[in-house]
Amino acid sequence: MKRLGVNIDHIATLRNARGESHPDPLFAAKFVKKLGADSITIHLREDRRHIKDLDSKNICSIKNLLVNLEISIKDEIVKNAIKIKPNYICIVPENRREVTTEGGLDLEKNKKKIKSIIQLFKKRKIRTSLFINPSLKDVLLSKQLGTDCIEIHTGRFANLVKLKKNIQNEFRRIKRSSKLANDIGIEVHAGHGLDYKSTEILSKIHEIKEFNIGHFIISESIFFGLKMVIRKFKKIINK
Ligand code: PXP
Repeated sequence: MKRLGVNIDHIATLRNARGESHPDPLFAAKFVKKLGADSITIHLREDRRHIKDLDSKNICSIKNLLVNLEISIKDEIVKNAIKIKPNYICIVPENRREVTTEGGLDLEKNKKKIKSIIQLFKKRKIRTSLFINPSLKDVLLSKQLGTDCIEIHTGRFANLVKLKKNIQNEFRRIKRSSKLANDIGIEVHAGHGLDYKSTEILSKIHEIKEFNIGHFIISESIFFGLKMVIRKFKKIINK
C-alpha cells in the first residue's frame, strides 16, 4: 500500500489571514488522520508564514499521529526541530522570497551540513528524508549522506501535466531516480504541485511509497470537503 501524507500548512495560512485561531491546524491534523491520511506534513519555515513553533509542538504531541516536519538547514530551525520531536524530518531548500519550495536541495553545495543534520536526527531515531530533484547523481549523493528516504520534487512534472505538455522525459527521470534509490536501499517519496491527474500517473511507479500533497488537497476541499478529497487520493495512489 502506498501512503498519503497530507500537508496542512495552508490551514495555518487561512488561520493567519485573520490573525485569530480558526481554522486550527491542531484540529486539522487529528481530523485528516481520522479521514485516512497516513501522516501529516508541516513545514516550519524560517519566516513562520504558516505553521508556527507552537503548532508544530502541539501537532507532534498528538498520540498515534505520524508527523513529517519539513525543515531547512538553518541552525535555528534544526535546533527547534530537535525540540519539537517529530516522527520524521524532511530537509528542504528554502529561500525567503519564494512562494513555495521551488526545487530540490543543492546537495553538492551543502554536503557537510546535510550529513551532520541527518546524523543528529538518526541518533534520535527520527526518520530522515531529503527533498531532491529527480536526478541519478542526487540519488547517489543522498546515499552517501546517509538518508533513510528521499522525496522527489514533482513540481516540474505536475506543471507539465497541468499544461498538457509532453511529460515523457520528466516521467522517465522520476522513474529512473526512484528505481535507483530503491535498488540502493533508500525509500522513495514524491511531492509538490500534485493534483489528481499527476498523482495518478506517478502512482504507476511502484518504487514510490509515499505521496506528500498539500495545496491541492486543501483548496479542492473548499468545494468537495476533506473527506471526499482524501478518499479520492487514497484510491488513486492504490489503484
Ligand atoms: N513535499 C515537500 C517536501 C514540500 O516542500 C511541499 C510544499 O511545502 C509539498 C510536498 C507539498 O506541495 P504542494 O502543497 O504543492 O502539494
